[in-house]
Amino acid sequence: MKLWRDIIDSLPDAIIVLSDAIEPLAINPAAETMLGASSFTRNQLGDLLEHNPWLDKMVRNCLKTGQSFAAPDAVLGLGPQSVTVRTEVSPLLAEDGRTQGAIIQLRDLTHQKSAAEVTNPVELSLRLSPAGLAHEVKNPLTGIKGAAELIAAMYPAEPRVQQYYGVIRDGVNRITSLVEQVLAVSAPQRLAVEPVNIHQVLHQALRMAGLYPNAPDAVRIEQDFDPSLPDIQGDSVALERAFLNLLKNAREAVAESGTIRLHTRIETEFRMATGGQHLQFLRVEVSDNGIGIAEDALAHLFTPFFTTKPSGTGLGLVLSQRIIALHGGRLWATRGGIRRKGDTSDTSVGVTFKVTLPIGTRSQSARGELSHDDSQRSGG
Ligand SMILES: Nc1ncnc2c1ncn2[C@@H]1O[C@H](COP(=O)(O)OP(=O)(O)OP(=O)(O)O)[C@@H](O)[C@H]1O
Ligand SMILES: [Mg+2]
Repeated sequence: MKLWRDIIDSLPDAIIVLSDAIEPLAINPAAETMLGASSFTRNQLGDLLEHNPWLDKMVRNCLKTGQSFAAPDAVLGLGPQSVTVRTEVSPLLAEDGRTQGAIIQLRDLTHQKSAAEVTNPVELSLRLSPAGLAHEVKNPLTGIKGAAELIAAMYPAEPRVQQYYGVIRDGVNRITSLVEQVLAVSAPQRLAVEPVNIHQVLHQALRMAGLYPNAPDAVRIEQDFDPSLPDIQGDSVALERAFLNLLKNAREAVAESGTIRLHTRIETEFRMATGGQHLQFLRVEVSDNGIGIAEDALAHLFTPFFTTKPSGTGLGLVLSQRIIALHGGRLWATRGGIRRKGDTSDTSVGVTFKVTLPIGTRSQSARGELSHDDSQRSGG
């Protein structure tokens, strides 16, 4: 198939395909370049394997067991020259699952090697930065998704192709959102602090969650706001993101129909600040009457990667909690959703997320990193 040929030919890795009798079946242009040969004969293949016993062993093991083998870092001798390569040998499977050959994939590590050899600490930290990694991961994903879409479009009436495409698409989407979330959680946050009206933040978060000005028909949004609340000192964009995660969770918890309630008020408890002053807080509660949380899950909600959703990353709440902590506040959850005075309804229905944020000019935590004290308090 032409498209597959184009894909294989475009890969930067050298690909050599062998039959189970260890005869060359195909090589791609990257392999031609690496081997310095535009055709690859049986004898040349024999030479290659003879000069590189480790590769010969990988190929034979693969053909014998039908399993994949990898060598992260090996020297491939090519006549007078040699290159450092990462190698993978995978079985070439026939339709009935039988191993009919092997695929050798070689990645030239020469450039990485020389970069690593001259590495200074700055370079090292750049190379390992989450942002760099995210970028490197997302680029090929875009290519994979695009290629899969093309293939799916070529076989619109072939259910199996459409099914496989669905698997690729969902996997790619999941990795993409995971990478974005990990990036958001691990990037050092610098807050742009300014006076912020909490109700504007909540409206913007509702808007981003698709719940404002109009929510879907069967989802009811209740706003129980105290209009007299003063501004807080904070980063509106970061706070919107923190509340967006809570609203998205509430929306997912109520599924088709239900109620999400936002409640704001002055916190009646004070905290002692350094210097003997009292710090006052406001409180925001986000409640829903959705599926609720099991008692034993409550302790894990803020643990990275804890999720009960098939396509969740389990990082939404981690990020929200971090943002609130950076503002000197707290975020925690209680079982039981929308309740009013005297309400003794079942706590297995719904959840309430509670946020406190300091009012006033406390800017100590606005520098970005969590102090020890903050990180302990953020546990909720
Ligand atoms: N309002 C809620 N009602 C019921 N369970 C909730 C609610 N909010 C969070 N949870 C539970 O907490 C888990 C972690 O939530 P979190 O937002 O961190 O990740 P996620 O929603 O699973 O994934 P993502 O936010 O990346 O989509 C959820 O999987 C769910 O089990
Ligand atoms: Mg979430």
